[in-house]
Amino acid sequence: MAVFSPPDAVWRAHFQNALLAWFATNRRPLPWRQDYLPYHVWIAEVMLQQTRMSRGVAYFHRWVARFPDVAAVASASRDDLLHYWEGLGYYSRLDNLRRAAQAIMAKHGGQLPDTPEKLLRLPGIGRYTAAAVAAIAFGRDVAAVDANVARVFARLFDLGQTHDHLRRRVEQLAAALLPSGQARDYNQALMEFGALLCLPRRARCEQCPFPELCLAKKRHTVAERPAPRPKIDKTDLLMAAAILRRPDGRVLLRKRPATGMWAGLWEFPGLIHRADENENAVSLLRRELPGGLGLTATLAPFASVSHCHTRYRVLLDGYLCYLIDGIGLPPLVEPYSWVDGDQLATRAMSAGHRRLAALLVASGII
Ligand code: ADE
Repeated sequence: MAVFSPPDAVWRAHFQNALLAWFATNRRPLPWRQDYLPYHVWIAEVMLQQTRMSRGVAYFHRWVARFPDVAAVASASRDDLLHYWEGLGYYSRLDNLRRAAQAIMAKHGGQLPDTPEKLLRLPGIGRYTAAAVAAIAFGRDVAAVDANVARVFARLFDLGQTHDHLRRRVEQLAAALLPSGQARDYNQALMEFGALLCLPRRARCEQCPFPELCLAKKRHTVAERPAPRPKIDKTDLLMAAAILRRPDGRVLLRKRPATGMWAGLWEFPGLIHRADENENAVSLLRRELPGGLGLTATLAPFASVSHCHTRYRVLLDGYLCYLIDGIGLPPLVEPYSWVDGDQLATRAMSAGHRRLAALLVASGII
């Protein structure tokens, strides 16, 4: 492979001008781009780490309408925050967001700190978010490297490294090419360019504002950059859940513990089981039901849903639970709760259980 030599001043100026001119005419009118309030930029950056732009914008609007500033996040209950976060996944981010908001209230008078170093000390704010907020909200001369920016530079300089190694190399290059005083536009231009033109599988090289600078284009390696990282196989997670309805139409939900996977989310009572277990899922599930209900219930398969989590492929089987006639329901205590069918939408649930709930509504069961 040819040895990479750092770009000279002419190259730099050409790249910066072409990139910023492209951004000036192609920037999307995103809601936080109106006034660049630091709180807005922060929320947007955290949300966008885990979701597509169109979805992120919808969540952003709902979120800032309900929580207009850091103080509102700091004083909200976790359930309330969860309700506006549900569907974005990575719920530990939400807990960090709340803890960071509380720290901003306690230590920074409710204003986000304006340097990457101070931002990095807040819970859940990593290198990328700290740099993005410092540059985009406060115009600090720092480079924020997300997956889009890493891909752009991997192609521009035909870099063969993968994940962390690539990230570190790109952080150096992006910082070296940053036009001083223009960090806000430069960083957003790189992200936007990666999101709109320099796409993962179908790069739109014909629309690129600086094709003559791109080493991967010259070497015909665009499709191979960034180099694929070794695949981490997802593990199958088998889950079963019991859907129990009362004659008045209410359904039984259980709240998950405050820590661990899907912390604090509501779900149909259920369990994780193993395919090679001697006892089948139904009899395991009966034992999960509260207060002796399992002894008095039959369970019939209703639907299976699957969805992908960071590390797992979750396969969730829902069983309709029928109580044997004449047996009263035991009084329920936390974390169980009877919920009206039409109130299900207000309870934050994990993706699999939300899908089961939607299927129950669609099939007229609740
Ligand atoms: N992706 C993440 N943050 C972004 C931003 N500020 N602009 C465009 N795309 C983004």
